[in-house]
Amino acid sequence: MEEYIVELKNITKAFPGVLALDKVQFNLKSGEVMALLGENGAGKSTLMKILSGVYSRDAGEMKIFGREVGEMTPRLAQEMGVAIIHQELNMCRHLTVAQNMYLGREIMRAGQVNNRTMNEGAREILGELNIDLDPETVVGDLPVSKQQMVEIAKALSTNAKILIMDEPTSALTAKEIDDLFAIIRKLREDGKGIVYISHRLEELQHIVDRVTIMRDGKYILTGDFRDLTMEEIIAGMVGREIKEKFPRVSCKKGEKILEVRHLNAGRMVRDISFELYEGEIVGFAGLMGAGRTETTRAIFGADPKDSGEIVLEGKTLKISCPEDAIKAGIVLAPEDRKKDGLCTKLSVRDNIALPNLDILCDRLGVVNRNREKEMVSRTVRDLMIRLPGDQVDAGTLSGGNQQKVVVGKWLARNSRVVIFDEPTRGIDVAAKVEIYHLMNQLKARGIGVMFVSSEMPEIMGISDRIIVMCDGRITGELCREDATQDQILTYATRFEKKV
Ligand SMILES: Nc1ncnc2c1ncn2[C@@H]1O[C@H](COP(=O)(O)OP(=O)(O)OP(=O)(O)O)[C@@H](O)[C@H]1O
Ligand SMILES: [Mg+2]
Repeated sequence: MEEYIVELKNITKAFPGVLALDKVQFNLKSGEVMALLGENGAGKSTLMKILSGVYSRDAGEMKIFGREVGEMTPRLAQEMGVAIIHQELNMCRHLTVAQNMYLGREIMRAGQVNNRTMNEGAREILGELNIDLDPETVVGDLPVSKQQMVEIAKALSTNAKILIMDEPTSALTAKEIDDLFAIIRKLREDGKGIVYISHRLEELQHIVDRVTIMRDGKYILTGDFRDLTMEEIIAGMVGREIKEKFPRVSCKKGEKILEVRHLNAGRMVRDISFELYEGEIVGFAGLMGAGRTETTRAIFGADPKDSGEIVLEGKTLKISCPEDAIKAGIVLAPEDRKKDGLCTKLSVRDNIALPNLDILCDRLGVVNRNREKEMVSRTVRDLMIRLPGDQVDAGTLSGGNQQKVVVGKWLARNSRVVIFDEPTRGIDVAAKVEIYHLMNQLKARGIGVMFVSSEMPEIMGISDRIIVMCDGRITGELCREDATQDQILTYATRFEKKV
């Protein structure tokens, strides 16, 4: 009997200007969870797309269940029992949950799509997985975390024997992550092989059996998770040691920059008041769905406000759209980068230049190409964005590098307040530190930094002050010195008693 259900040898893949994979090795047994680790752009997603037939390889051998596979296609992958949950959500936003789950294998009746049967089937699968979702909901109306659960349910519903999860937890709530881990453990018991890609290294200990580490398109090592220390894993990924996971700079708290007074917007933003000072980073903690994203969007003018005031440096602002906010000096790096943060079909250069045209154009409205080039190369350099050239489509960058572009485009302007919503989602250990350095840099420059994060260590490690939200309201505030995980959680679950 063959020991491995997947064997990849010397897999090589080049894209224009990058050798994404350079003779990479990978194997997987049944009944195990294999973590595939590496920095942003290391080639993890590319390798898994080759295994699942999304991309074809330039060279190398592939064996699945002991069978040599010449040309892999998505169809053949499905037939052989390979399913992939993609890193970037791939749902059809205007279709329902059930329609998405049955996409490409719709149940037909008399030449028509049989929605009733598909809804029933979907309901059953979701029930089995303990996922609380109505199959008839339109996917575009769901929050990112729920969309991700649909993606997971869809992959599981095909009865795959080899399941690839490319950052499945990056947008999930703590409870959803627990549920997912329970599902993964069950799949492992059933003898399935699971490839698990994640930048959340702290979660590996709960589910992972073995790890494979890649760096810069090259294979580095494979080993039992138990035999490796976290330092060894990080050093394998990054090629050096990372000393400080949460770098800090202390600044003197200066003038008040921003004041939000009694802000109300829809159901999730209720009477929000807070202040932001020069020289501090304010972290917004809370459970998923606490109204933090909605608050940032209301401030930024992306959603309408019902009432309340936004005062920037003593001046009351009238913000009715993002353009007003940007002009006034308030910018937002949003949570859902694919939908709100990035034009994936435009080049990296255009993505950085577009929101800054007002400062890049001369008086006649013509873009000053030198200034543009300078701005783009400075951003790419400052954030260490890894790319073959700034003319490539932003959509072709690795997930983490896309996130850096989203953040980077705002740094080119002299903003007064920078709001980050989950800034390090899907970003590797080393790049996270870069983002923190960047936030510190902004803080040192006297810019008000506000950020939303669901990662407790990050909230506690980076914030000077922590504001906690629950159910659309601010339920607590802590300064860095007094913050404990327990206290934050207590505030985060302080729901109003329902009458
Ligand atoms: N369709 C594509 N066209 C051109 N280049 C690509 C394409 N897909 C990936 N690349 C490049 O291949 C390299 C590997 O990317 P890949 O997405 O596999 O990285 P990753 O390890 O998944 O990173 P992350 O952790 O950020 O998701 C990167 O340099 C990326 O820019
Ligand atoms: Mg990836």
